[in-house]
This record gives sequence, C-alpha cells and structure tokens, in this order.
Amino acid sequence: MKLLRYIANLGYGSRRQVQQLFREGAVTDADGEVLYADDELGDPARVRLDGEPLDPPPGLLLMLHKPAGYTCSTKDSGRLVYELLPPRFRLRSPLLSPVGRLDRDTSGLLLFTDDGALLHRIISPKAQLAKVYEATLAQDLRGDEAALFASGTLMLESEQTPLLPAQLQVLAPRQARLTLHEGRYHQVRRMFAAAGNHVQALHRSRIGGLALDELPEGQWRALDAAAQARLFGAGEAA
Ligand code: URA
Repeated sequence: MKLLRYIANLGYGSRRQVQQLFREGAVTDADGEVLYADDELGDPARVRLDGEPLDPPPGLLLMLHKPAGYTCSTKDSGRLVYELLPPRFRLRSPLLSPVGRLDRDTSGLLLFTDDGALLHRIISPKAQLAKVYEATLAQDLRGDEAALFASGTLMLESEQTPLLPAQLQVLAPRQARLTLHEGRYHQVRRMFAAAGNHVQALHRSRIGGLALDELPEGQWRALDAAAQARLFGAGEAA
C-alpha cells in the first residue's frame, strides 16, 4: 500500500490534505529522512508525522474506561463515547466500532476494534466470554437472587429462551457482582428487575481475562497481543 493511502486511512485527513503534509515534508522515517506520498508503506512503526509516531495500525483493539453519561452510538444528541477518543479515530478506515454496548448510564470497560473478525469472535455466543458487572441496588438483596440467576431457567420479558446461568456474589446488602456469559439487551438491569429490585448504578470491570486495572475513568489504552490473549485466556469456551 502507498504511504498516502495508509496515512489517510488512519484519519489524518483526506487524500488531498495528506498530500499537502507530504509536500511540507512532514512525513519522515525514524531517522528524519523525508518520505513521499508514492512510497510503499514498509514498517509503519518507522514512519513519523511531524516527528511523532503514527496512530496504531489497522487491527487496533483498545479499551476505554467509559464514564456514565456517554452513549455507545455515532449519532445521539448527548455525549458520545467517541468523544473520549482522538477525533481522528472516528475517521479511520476500516471503521473503529464499539464491541457490544454499554447503556448510557453504565460505566466501565468498553472495547473498540476495527477488526471485524475479532469483533465477532469477542461477541460470539460461542465464545461465552465472561463479563463482570458491579451493581448498586435500590433495595437490599433478598437472598434468593444467586440461585435464581444461576438456575439457567430465568426468562426475561419478551425473550424466547431462558438466560444462561450467571454467578452472583453479594458484596454488601445493596452491592453485588454479577458474571454473565452472554449479552442481552439491558440484561443486568432486567435481571435485577425480575428479582424485584432496581439497579441504581452499574459498572463493568472485566471481560474475559481483561480487567480495567488502573485505567482512569474517561481514558483509553491500545491493547497489545498479550492483552488480547488475556481477553480470551479466561472465560472462552473451548
Ligand atoms: N446490562 C445492562 O443492563 N446494561 C449494560 O450496560 C450492560 C449490561
């Protein structure tokens, strides 16, 4: 691939705008040698734009610590999760998309990728990647929720099949950790509603073997191959 196309696809500008960057000599290799629009890409890690390394190459997987109040959509009137990423990331081709969704009022671990096959592998029902949520509830837990959620027979309203068994850990009278192996619409909120309770705050702390760790709220981090392996290292069915 020509350098011009590669850099334009990363969202740095239209082909014309990127062409202008080349004319200004802004694109160099790691040793400061000027590169040209027609040059073949070579190793993207050695390309510099205004002296800075380029954004991560296609095949990007990143995690965002989503704050409550942001929507996982490209066209909502409120604040969008994309606003927490560099503006260029919205212009990348292939497109960078959220992997599944979190409700606007849910905080925590949200993945993005531009790799369609990886996205499907993560959300595939076959993968059954464990997703761990911490819920703050409006009322004290009754005591029967863990058995109900683990039963494999709980039917949510307007669903055709019962929920897969889920694991509940009680953290405090109104605090619980719930591990799911599927992702249905508003699933955690609807599960607690089915148990006569109401979720006041919801946070996702883990997907598969990948945790938010110390990533501050509103921040993102690109995930390397080791992190990707951790994602599938725990919770994926054989
Ligand atoms: N379950 C919910 O109810 N909301 C989320 O955002 C994620 C899981």
